[in-house]
Amino acid sequence: MDNTQFYFIETFGCQMNVHDSEKIAGMLRDLGYVETKDKNNADIIVFNTCCIRETAESKIMAKIGDLKALKARNKNLITVICGCMTQQRGMAELLKKRFPFLSIVIGTHNLDRLEEYIVSYKKQKKFQNIVWDKEQEITENQKIYRDSTNHAFVNIMYGCNNFCSYCIVPYVRGRERSRSVDEIVKEVKSLAQQNRYSEIVLLGQNVNSYGQDFKDGVTNFVYLLDKLCKIQGDFKISFMSSHPKDFSSELVDFIASHQKMSRAIHLPVQSGSSRILKLMNRRYTAEAYKSLVDDMYAKISGLSLTTDIIVGFPGETEDDFLQTCDLVKYCKFSSIFGFVYSKRNGTPAAKFENQVPYKVKKDRITRLFALEHQLQKEELLSMVGKTFDCIAEINDKGFLVAKTENHKSIKIVNGNKSICGEKCKVKVKALDEKELLGEVLK
Ligand code: 5AD
Ligand code: SF4
Repeated sequence: MDNTQFYFIETFGCQMNVHDSEKIAGMLRDLGYVETKDKNNADIIVFNTCCIRETAESKIMAKIGDLKALKARNKNLITVICGCMTQQRGMAELLKKRFPFLSIVIGTHNLDRLEEYIVSYKKQKKFQNIVWDKEQEITENQKIYRDSTNHAFVNIMYGCNNFCSYCIVPYVRGRERSRSVDEIVKEVKSLAQQNRYSEIVLLGQNVNSYGQDFKDGVTNFVYLLDKLCKIQGDFKISFMSSHPKDFSSELVDFIASHQKMSRAIHLPVQSGSSRILKLMNRRYTAEAYKSLVDDMYAKISGLSLTTDIIVGFPGETEDDFLQTCDLVKYCKFSSIFGFVYSKRNGTPAAKFENQVPYKVKKDRITRLFALEHQLQKEELLSMVGKTFDCIAEINDKGFLVAKTENHKSIKIVNGNKSICGEKCKVKVKALDEKELLGEVLK
């Protein structure tokens, strides 16, 4: 009889969670489980949750509810809920009350111990509700099962000290803790030696304050990058996320002068109104953000800038919103992650007066996306007829595409997949809806 036991993981939220799920997969494989993409076949189901916005939470609640039927069919099924949502005060109790069939609920601070909890659940068959209040020490040498073939995530720090007034993250991820330079270098070296990854993505809630907790006057983000750039291998280094208030000119200069540094930078602005930024506790002004962006474009060739924007923050007027639109036009973002403000209990902004009505928020996000599409179209149209230095690759849909230096994708209409991974010159012939079509020049 085949005794294979299967695991199914569903991840909600950001890259940090995606990477945590790679650690969960590492632990489950260590226990002998094999991955399945079909929940119905699973012996253990893990939901790695997010609570950044209410929409994320309600979606997850509905999905947890759906597990009841699976548990009724297979009484040995182990169900685990972990991640940011469960770390909120009182949430574990609430989940257990609402969903008595759950097996294990754990928070973010003790996720690294999941393997232990599963072993003990299997022995005792007793619900385990283990959410720690305090951050645990950083666990090194974790078993990580990386799924991606192009990029590899590497944590450089955990937690956040910024307390932006809308954001729940500092409450569920704890204070900033940096990994040691040596450990990070060791991990990146071993990834580089595998020769599989074209990009190493350094992860942290605010990577720009890396090393500040060491208080040694030497270790900072640029110091770390300098060590990483010296590692041999054909890979790029990118990072996320950045906080504009801590993005130093030393860092801009470093990126500009190091070929290993990716030119795709995510720099969340959140709003284009200095008044709203102050209420958000972001500690920079729209003007300071724009001059940082000016400096980046001036020094970093091939820069591709992306951002996060929240519309409908409490007290945001039409004029504040129009200032955000102006900033968007100014900064030439290659892409925008736009969000409707969502009230998170326990954050200061949840108690602010002048909450913006949902209809107004919805209208603003629609206009923001329309503006983004219009600007993107204008930019893509400006590429038609021009020739670019590119690297050929296969995209998610299996098509051969050429990636320009600043991450624009051109569908190749005259080449074959044998050129995949090679450098090529591509002339853009046309724009089809949102897709650039181009020919490889012989
Ligand atoms: N409502 C809406 N968006 C939010 N974000 C963080 N908190 C909230 C909230 N309460 C957005 C920010 C952040 C991104 C990860 O999520 O733009 O940069
Ligand atoms: Fe949240 Fe602000 Fe920290 Fe980012 S920097 S995780 S938005 S508190």
